[in-house]
Amino acid sequence: MNYPFWDIPHLGSGWVIGIIAIFHVMISQFAVGGGLYLPIAERKAMRMADKNMSAEWLTQLARHSKFFLILTGVFGTISGVGIWFAIGLTHPEATSTLIHNFVFGWAMEWVFFMVELTTVAVYYYTWDRIDPRLHLKVGWVYAGASIATLVIINGILTFMLTPGDTWLGVAGTGHEASVFWNAFFNPTYWPSLFLRCCVCASLAGIWALITSSRIDGDKHLALKTSLVKWSVKWLVPSFVAIPFLMIWYLMMVPESQRALLSLGIDTIGAGTFSVITRIALVIIVTSATVVGVAYYLAYRNPAEFNLSHAMAVLLLALIATGSGEYAREMLRKPYVIGRWMFSNGVRVPYVARINQEGYLAHSMWVWNGPVLNDRITSMGITPLNDPNLSYTRGEAIFRGECGSCHTLSGYRPLKELLAGRDRTNIGSFITMLQDYRADSPYRRFMPPMVGSKQDVDDLTDFLNAQVNSPAAKPVLAAATK
Ligand code: HEC
Repeated sequence: MNYPFWDIPHLGSGWVIGIIAIFHVMISQFAVGGGLYLPIAERKAMRMADKNMSAEWLTQLARHSKFFLILTGVFGTISGVGIWFAIGLTHPEATSTLIHNFVFGWAMEWVFFMVELTTVAVYYYTWDRIDPRLHLKVGWVYAGASIATLVIINGILTFMLTPGDTWLGVAGTGHEASVFWNAFFNPTYWPSLFLRCCVCASLAGIWALITSSRIDGDKHLALKTSLVKWSVKWLVPSFVAIPFLMIWYLMMVPESQRALLSLGIDTIGAGTFSVITRIALVIIVTSATVVGVAYYLAYRNPAEFNLSHAMAVLLLALIATGSGEYAREMLRKPYVIGRWMFSNGVRVPYVARINQEGYLAHSMWVWNGPVLNDRITSMGITPLNDPNLSYTRGEAIFRGECGSCHTLSGYRPLKELLAGRDRTNIGSFITMLQDYRADSPYRRFMPPMVGSKQDVDDLTDFLNAQVNSPAAKPVLAAATK
C-alpha cells in the first residue's frame, strides 16, 4: 500500500465513485448528444417554410439551451471533478497509472472541455444577438468539441477493461507511454464508442422531452406536437443498434472476464452470481419500457405529454444507464486495469514478491506496520509492544486488500459473508484465496490474498474478531435492551 486507505463505512468507497459516476454519465452523455441536438434542431427550424413555426421552434430551443447550459455547465462539471476526487482517493494506484499513461490524452481532453464550456455559454447568450448563421456555427463548434471529449475519454475508459496485449507487454517497464495509441485504440474502443454515441443520442432526446413536455399543449399545439415527435426520434438509433453493439463489445472482452457473465447459471456462492444476470434483465426491461412510454405517451399523444411522463422516462433511463455502468464495473472484476492491476491496487506481477516480503513491508501509512516501526527503532526508541499487534496489522491488510470491494457490515459485508465460520475455517478460506488455484471459482471476481504466512494469520485474527468476538456480543445485547 503506497497510499493511505480511504474508509467509507457501510457504503464502501466504490459506491461513492458509482453514485457520482452514474449522475455524471447521465449529464455528460447528454452534453454530447444535446450538443448535436441543438444545432441540428436549429438548422431544421431555420429552414422551415412556415415562418411562425420556425420562430416558435427557435424560442423553444433558446429555452432548452438555457436548461442545457445549467445542467451541463454546472452539474456536469462539478460531478466530473467529483469523479477525480473519488477515484483519486479510492484507487490511487490506478489513477496514477491512468495519468502517467495518458498525460497528453488528458491534456487534449481538457482543451476540448474548455472549448465546450466557452462555446455553450456563447451559444446561449447570443441567441438573437448575432447573425443566425454565425450562431448556428457556434453550435457546431460546441458539438464538435463535445464529441471530441467523448472520443478521448472513451479510449481511457475502455483501456481499463481491455488494455490490450501490446500495452500489457510493456506494462511496468516505464515505457508504457510509447504504446499510447495501442492502449488508446484498445480492443473495446470502437464498440464502446458506438454504444456511447447511441446512448448520447437517446439522452439528447430524453432530456429534450423534459423541456418540451412543459410547452402548453392547448396554446401551442403544433409546436408541441412537432417538437415532441421529433425528439422521440432521437431514441430510435439506440434501440435498433444497441443489442448488436453490446454483442460486439462483449466479443472483444477476454474470455476469462466474460466468464463473469455466466455467473447467473453457476451454483456457487451466495447471490452475487446472479447479479450480472439480474442487471442485464433490468437493462432490458427498463430500456423496453422507455421505448414503450416514449412511443405511446409521447409520440402518439404529444399534446398530453406532461412533465411527470417525461420524468418517468428520465428515471427509467437513469436506471438503465446506472445498471449498464454497474455491469461494466462488474465485468472488470477482479481488476481495476484488466489483467494488470487488481481492484485493490496490487499489480499482477508483484504478487510473488509481496508473498515473500509481506504485504505491509512497504506501507508507510500503517500504524505499527514494519515501516513505521523501523523508523522508530532507527531513532533509538523501542516500538510499542502492542498486545493487539496482529489485530491492527490484520485491519490494515483488510482495508488495503479487501476494502475496495467489501465493507465489514454494509455493502458486501464480510461479517455476514463469513458468519458461521470459526477461526480455523476463516483461516482456511483466506489461505485458499492466497493459493489462488487455477480452478478456484473466486478467481473470477476476487484478487488473490497477497502476503506472507504472518499476513494470513493477522488478517484471520482481525476477521475472526469481527465475526466471532465474544466481547462484541454483550455490547450488542446491551444496545438492544
Ligand atoms: C475485486 C473485488 C473484491 C476484492 C478485492 C475482495 N473480494 Fe471478496 N468478494 C467479492 C465479490 C464480488 C464477492 C461475492 C459477494 C457476494 O456473494 O455478495 C466476494 C465474496 C467474498 C466472500 C464470500 C464467499 C462465499 O463463498 O460466499 C468472502 C468470505 C470474501 N469475499 C472475502 C474476501 C477477503 C477476505 C478479501 C480480501 C483479502 C476479499 N474478499 C477481497 C469481491 C472482492
